[in-house]
Amino acid sequence: MHNTAFAALGLNWRYLAFEVHPDHLRAAIEGARRMGFAGLNLTVPHKRLALELVDALDKSARKWGAVNTIRFESAGVEGRTKIRAVGFNTDADAIVAALREDLKLELRGTRVLLLGAGGAGRTAALKLAAEKVAELFLVNRTQSKARTVAAEIKRQFPSQRVTVGYPESEVDLLMNATSLGLKPDDPLPLSRKQFSLERVRAVYDMIYRPAETALLEAARKAGCRTANGLGMLLYQGARAFEIWTGKAAPLDVMRRALEQNIYGH
Ligand code: ATR
Repeated sequence: MHNTAFAALGLNWRYLAFEVHPDHLRAAIEGARRMGFAGLNLTVPHKRLALELVDALDKSARKWGAVNTIRFESAGVEGRTKIRAVGFNTDADAIVAALREDLKLELRGTRVLLLGAGGAGRTAALKLAAEKVAELFLVNRTQSKARTVAAEIKRQFPSQRVTVGYPESEVDLLMNATSLGLKPDDPLPLSRKQFSLERVRAVYDMIYRPAETALLEAARKAGCRTANGLGMLLYQGARAFEIWTGKAAPLDVMRRALEQNIYGH
């Protein structure tokens, strides 16, 4: 998506992927800085580690406690040019943009069941609270992690209603932030005995490959509006593009590039 966007804007830039061991993240960031990179994206398991490894944090990274985007910036320090690494987070805002665009959902005042309390689940939970959802239900295989996220929400958003466990009545949105659904034989990320999809208006699965997970298929058959995680991938990338280049991201070009690369059409 980035390479297609660079080409569309006539920028002689390249986006490349590198697999880096967490022990070498500091050296990798330093190497990219020394080699004149404009910036970096980071993914699992680097997003929280990077908080400690950049020279400065944008308020987005501070607020969500994770860095997925770095921009290398020149700054004049005592007459010498120094290049500093600044950490940003573009994931959290992408959640809201994707729900708005793909599900026509405005979060304020809604009831949300969130599955997963790992990195993605934690960021989503905090963002949902920041968007003033009416009530948030957190379900995770390891319940203690859901409780930790609930406690963090209470600390940052004291008036937010948050419950660990399934709701007893309808919800407006069910969001999957677990990794269940990536593999074809994965079970559903929720217990249909404990919570029926008939009680849900819309389902968002952060997974985008396969295009329709078993959860999304079941939700569609139960009459819910559904969307997969492609929009989140697109919007976090579009914001990163703008942070690096200072130019508006060509969203349609980027979406088409993603669909072509991921789904082959
Ligand atoms: P990410 O950054 O993508 O969120 P993660 O932090 O490893 O990755 O989180 C993975 C999420 O998927 C967690 O909520 C995890 O549940 P646990 O906290 O109990 O580990 C969930 N998950 C992964 N495999 C699972 C499985 N087989 N059954 C249920 N939940 C699973």
